[in-house]
Amino acid sequence: MSVTQQSATERVTADRGRFVARGVSTPKLVVAQAQGARVTDVEGRSFIDFAGGIGCQNTGHGFAPVVAAIHEQADRFLHQCFMVGTYESYVEVCRRLAELSPCAGTDQRSVLVNSGAEGIENAVKIARVATGRPAVVVFDNAFHGRTLLTMTMTSKVKPYKAGFGPFAPEVYRTPAPYPYRGISSTQAIAALEHLFKGDVDPESVACVVLEPVQGEGGFVVMPPDFPARLHELCAKHGILSVDDEVQSGVGRTGKVWAIEHYDGVQPDLLVSGKSLGGGLPLAGVTGRAEVMDAVPPGGLGGTFGGNPLSCAAALAVLDAVAQPEFLAAATALGETLRPRLDAIAAHHASIGEVRGIGPMLAFEFADRTPERAAAVVSAAFDNGLLLLACGIYGNVIRLLPPLTIADTDLDEGMAILEKALASSA
Ligand SMILES: Cc1ncc(COP(=O)(O)O)c(C=O)c1O
Repeated sequence: MSVTQQSATERVTADRGRFVARGVSTPKLVVAQAQGARVTDVEGRSFIDFAGGIGCQNTGHGFAPVVAAIHEQADRFLHQCFMVGTYESYVEVCRRLAELSPCAGTDQRSVLVNSGAEGIENAVKIARVATGRPAVVVFDNAFHGRTLLTMTMTSKVKPYKAGFGPFAPEVYRTPAPYPYRGISSTQAIAALEHLFKGDVDPESVACVVLEPVQGEGGFVVMPPDFPARLHELCAKHGILSVDDEVQSGVGRTGKVWAIEHYDGVQPDLLVSGKSLGGGLPLAGVTGRAEVMDAVPPGGLGGTFGGNPLSCAAALAVLDAVAQPEFLAAATALGETLRPRLDAIAAHHASIGEVRGIGPMLAFEFADRTPERAAAVVSAAFDNGLLLLACGIYGNVIRLLPPLTIADTDLDEGMAILEKALASSA
């Protein structure tokens, strides 16, 4: 009798199918370990990582200062709940966020939570209390999370919204600039003014939430003039501007926050997340004291928000990312990648645009269907590269390698990407 030997990948994947809800989509990869820009699967195959667990590894897998900080904290205590016992690392993360904050005002404060979605939820809560207004304005192509409010704020029906309604009230959507698809800053501002005439009284809007580089929506970069024009319009109506830097922040664009690329723009609230925790769950909302402290004691918080391990990791991340050398290396990575992507695009007529800021780069297929990008991602995987598609049409390939990636890994990853593009043409 012959016994078919199951591989470790097949075994874990089969068990996953048996025990894990299928709504959490299933990748091909079963991970054994990860270091730097490389992930090794349970078969011993090594992959170059251009995904970073969706943008959470700006400092690379197993970043030594992060691992050391987690070990050190694990030996002292794992959990207290910040509402039960104050611990210094939480306070220190807030101090670092204050020092690094791009927000308006000198006296900056933060609250720490578990995820980007929770950060956005809290930013809206804070903005509502601070202004006494209910409404929220968001943009086409936005992604702000998967909770009821943030899913409502997100701009992609399948798979994020279909069937999950009714949605949260008082969320209004308006076009974002998208120069490649013919939407300019001027048109987007005109559309928002129209929204204020036709759908929602601007005097009842608490906040406008903007990703300076839209992440899941396709790495759509806001034009240089847009955030300032938006901010001016918001200020005219007493609307707070929320800067969602969950994906674009923590060095991803070559500055600590992407909004720093836009001269003179100071948001009212910043939401950070993903790479902030170096691989552990952590997100934050930061803003000036009079806005943050509009919420009375007990109005913000949560059991695990800003847990000690995540805070220890975040301090190591922020120490590294705030270094000019780290940001210079990230910028240099972007300067290396950009011409390579432009050269690839020159050989593939199917690629309509290469875009991004610094090393936060992507290319969009002109055809607004998901099949080509999915084929590239799949071929890349088969050849040893972890890659992610994005965009509400699923037709954008984004690059999220660790910003610390070694030249050899980068070269190998780019070679696999080229091969995957050629084989899927
Ligand atoms: C810009 C942006 N905001 C919010 C979120 C939600 O973050 P999380 O998945 O940690 O809830 C994401 C996640 O991809 C994001 O990219």
